[in-house]
Amino acid sequence: MLVEHLETINSSVAQFAADVHAGLDRPGQKELPSKYLYDSIGSTLFEAISLLPEYGLTRADERILRRHASDIAELLPSPLIVSELGSGSGKKTRCILEALCKREAISYYPIEISATALASCERELAGIDCISIVGIEREYVDGLREVANRRAPGAHLLILFLGSTIGNFDAGADQRFLQRIRDILLPGDSLLLGADLLKPLSQLIPAYDDPIGITAAFNLNLLARINRELDADFNLRQFEHVARFNEDTNSVEMHLRSKESQTVTIPRAELMVRFSHGETIWTESSHKYSESEISILAGASGFRCEAQWTDVEWCFAENLFIAV
Ligand code: TRP
Repeated sequence: MLVEHLETINSSVAQFAADVHAGLDRPGQKELPSKYLYDSIGSTLFEAISLLPEYGLTRADERILRRHASDIAELLPSPLIVSELGSGSGKKTRCILEALCKREAISYYPIEISATALASCERELAGIDCISIVGIEREYVDGLREVANRRAPGAHLLILFLGSTIGNFDAGADQRFLQRIRDILLPGDSLLLGADLLKPLSQLIPAYDDPIGITAAFNLNLLARINRELDADFNLRQFEHVARFNEDTNSVEMHLRSKESQTVTIPRAELMVRFSHGETIWTESSHKYSESEISILAGASGFRCEAQWTDVEWCFAENLFIAV
């Protein structure tokens, strides 16, 4: 195995400060970009979330990939290079790469903004023969352009976008994002897309608000990160994690709610923010798809949905999109 690291372009503290300023200094609903949830503490907490009995999403994703890895491989052209948007720990990817490695040597390009996640992905996949890993510490679209530039003539590209991160885009932004991905691809390239499906609220809410509080810690860590990196004085005990289902958008919304009226200073973002009692900061939404919505999404963004695999225990779909 070969492990190479492409130059590190971290989103700088200045960018973080600017995004925090923009999100908290706006009229109406305050918000923070969800990508900042994943510093090294956040990524570690998310790993723990994926082990929670209440959060069936990651295991469903893994089960489908394990069960259908060779079916998926059979539908893919050769020669093939593989890139993954948000590699996470790399555990889910292992079975796909192993199925592909049975027929050819594979170059694998995980794209991650978290250096911690990238390192653990590289460790996890290190044992597979016939694979070379090139970790790319970039934003998804930039990273993917880099991968596309490196492709040899005649090679097909398979993009993995697992774990239903697509559901974390705002309404309409999921399609626009897939279209940007499609623009970098060639006809016949493929995208394996994980998407969480609509399910009863009795199952959904505990998945995003677990009783031992790991999800709450994951969400609150964003305020702790602002304290650590921007010298802010958020009192974490005066905020609480809230997960609620928005029936209009079919998404679980995550917020941080101020338990009292208070003022927070964020020196490195040159900002003083007032919170009223009960006011929230919106940190993430997780859209839940219907099966037909996914095929429509494919068509609207320049793909066709070639195959769909679902899990019976936890309503989740793995979708193979082919660029047209
Ligand atoms: N991509 C994950 C999801 O939508 C992210 C996630 C899980 C999350 N639990 C969370 C984000 C809690 C914020 C808060 O399922």
